[in-house]
Amino acid sequence: DTPFKVCVVGSGNWGTTIAKVVSENTAQHPHLFEPKVNMWVFDEKIEGTSLVSIINNKHENVKYLPNIPLPENLVANPDLLNTVGDADIIIFNIPHQFLPKIVQQMKGNIKPTARAISCLKGFEVGKKGVQLLSAYVEDELDIPCGALSGANLAPEVAKENWSETTVAYQLPKDYRGDGKDVDHRVLKALFHRPYFHVSVIEDIAGISIAGALKNVVALGCGFVEGLGWGNNASAAIQRVGLGEIIKFGQMFFPESRVETYYQESAGVADLITTCSGGRNVRVAKHMAKSGKSALDAEKELLNGQSAQGIITCKEVHEWLETCELLHEFPLFEAVYQIVYNNVAMDKIPDLIDELDEFR
Ligand code: NAD
Ligand code: 13P
Repeated sequence: DTPFKVCVVGSGNWGTTIAKVVSENTAQHPHLFEPKVNMWVFDEKIEGTSLVSIINNKHENVKYLPNIPLPENLVANPDLLNTVGDADIIIFNIPHQFLPKIVQQMKGNIKPTARAISCLKGFEVGKKGVQLLSAYVEDELDIPCGALSGANLAPEVAKENWSETTVAYQLPKDYRGDGKDVDHRVLKALFHRPYFHVSVIEDIAGISIAGALKNVVALGCGFVEGLGWGNNASAAIQRVGLGEIIKFGQMFFPESRVETYYQESAGVADLITTCSGGRNVRVAKHMAKSGKSALDAEKELLNGQSAQGIITCKEVHEWLETCELLHEFPLFEAVYQIVYNNVAMDKIPDLIDELDEFR
């Protein structure tokens, strides 16, 4: 049987980490996967040298994942179409604001039999309303797309500290079933490592909604922490946040399962880890302490990385405003008002109390 060719689109903090994970597995299972993994890099110069050539020579992504040795079968490639053109499994892993442009370039330039997994956390809000990123990929590229999401701060996974994750995939209607098509077994072999434990389920919507919205909740946690209010305040934000995440899922993606939020790594576990030490919480804390705007704080703190909650809270606001449902999601709306309209952070308790139907 011909082994699957795997590529990764994206090479940031998480993009490079996942590329490392899958390259370790493709090397270990050459009967199932072609060992070489191409990783598309949005190339840039680091002190005059291309990041692509640094990655390929030093086997380290010195900008987005420094001090982590990368496998030699992981090859950086600056040419998007050359990276994805012959791939059987395309793993998307870029900040979600860049997805539409990349997907448009890929149209007509991939194998029609390719399958995709989105590791992105966010939504696409456009003429089709609020859309899962996996559904956006499916619609635009006409290939099946699942998702990977979990309590996975990239630097910890990159250091091979143990964590869990959730992969969600639904077999397509034209599933070939001849051992040559991607299924749950193949995905487990591709992503599971001794330090990265994978559970494969079917609830793409549940894991994607939780992954996107916990970034907004984490901004709220960062605000109250930055104000010096401590653990109780952060726990209160997470309580309200979890309620709003589940409500959002039930309202707009009724196919998502409530159990997923409680039982999977992509659910409450990701909320906890992100609110403890993710980039979104750190950026919001920095905003609280310095008085800087979200974009300035992100720029100062993250060296080119992205805190996705900043964009997601705007997308969620626009969608809920269209639906005239802003009042149903007081925490999401409070975060949006603080980030975009300079509402004072210490108003959060009142903003939540006024509208919180969970008390
Ligand atoms: P990142 O935040 O490190 O972003 C930097 C990447 O964006 C770099 O590869 C850079 O080249 C790229 N980039 C910058 N400008 C670009 C452009 N114009 N076009 C295309 N690419 C451009 O990215 P990340 O951490 O790999 O995050 C990818 C996704 O994974 C996000 O949706 C994020 O929420 C999710 N995620 C991140 C983590 C984490 O801990 N970092 C964990 C789980 C999930
Ligand atoms: P941050 O983007 O806030 O670092 O969160 C990363 C993440 O998704 C952890 O699972």
